[in-house]
Amino acid sequence: MLEARGLSKFYGSVLAVRDISFSLQPGQVLGFLGPNGSGKSTTVKMLTGLLEPSDGQIIYDGQDIHKDLIAYRKRLGYVPEEANLYPYLTGQEYLDMVATLRAMPEPRKSKTISSLLQLFSLSPHRHVSLGSYSKGMRQRILLIAALMDNPDILILDEPLSGLDVTSVLVIKALSARGKAVFYCSHILEVVEKVCSHLIILRNGQVIVQGTTCEVREHIGKSSLEGVFLHLVEERDVAQMANDIVSVVVSA
Ligand SMILES: Nc1ncnc2c1ncn2[C@@H]1O[C@H](COP(=O)(O)OP(=O)(O)OP(=O)(O)O)[C@@H](O)[C@H]1O
Ligand SMILES: [Mg+2]
Repeated sequence: MLEARGLSKFYGSVLAVRDISFSLQPGQVLGFLGPNGSGKSTTVKMLTGLLEPSDGQIIYDGQDIHKDLIAYRKRLGYVPEEANLYPYLTGQEYLDMVATLRAMPEPRKSKTISSLLQLFSLSPHRHVSLGSYSKGMRQRILLIAALMDNPDILILDEPLSGLDVTSVLVIKALSARGKAVFYCSHILEVVEKVCSHLIILRNGQVIVQGTTCEVREHIGKSSLEGVFLHLVEERDVAQMANDIVSVVVSA
């Protein structure tokens, strides 16, 4: 579905990413893990088409993404590392603007925004300016903006200093519906909860990649899956996550 082939990126003479290759298939959640400055955001910016690779290619459905960037981006949902939200817009206005830029048709646009605001518990705040939102509320607005056009690929760059329970379950439920998720973090525990596959980076280079099991064996770290299972037991939260995905998928 999405394939990175030999990606490298120089900033001037600084080599930030060196010869990274991977593929992302429908239903996979690929965790992209590495310490600060290891090249995660640089890779994400190449994957979203914001930066051109110095070397290598990104192939989506058999074609280089730069051949038709607009069509490719239509299939993408992206939660950026830094939430540069317009502080004077309300949550509703921001989402309307993003939906318009994405050319989402009515009535799907209004229906989806309204349902997602409600399911993410933001309805009471929809007419309040983003400048007054808490960090968690801004993160949820960004996630809604990324989800509302029913993307095939969701890219999250260091989302949320730890995802809330609902968002974690939304990611799981999205992958169960065949969506592909690329999830960057520098915290193994967070990534391990949601990812089927992992890539670990250091200084712009891949040091290990494979399924989460293979990587866990490789680095000899015990499972944290129990934590996740404990969360899944919370039926109402799981139901909510499924409801959110139903809105996204059936919209
Ligand atoms: N615009 C730029 N110009 C020059 N160097 C840059 C630029 N952006 C990033 N770098 C360098 O490239 C390297 C990788 O940065 P990148 O932002 O991709 O890391 P990261 O893994 O996302 O880090 P973090 O976890 O802190 O977000 C770093 O050494 C950084 O200093
Ligand atoms: Mg980063």
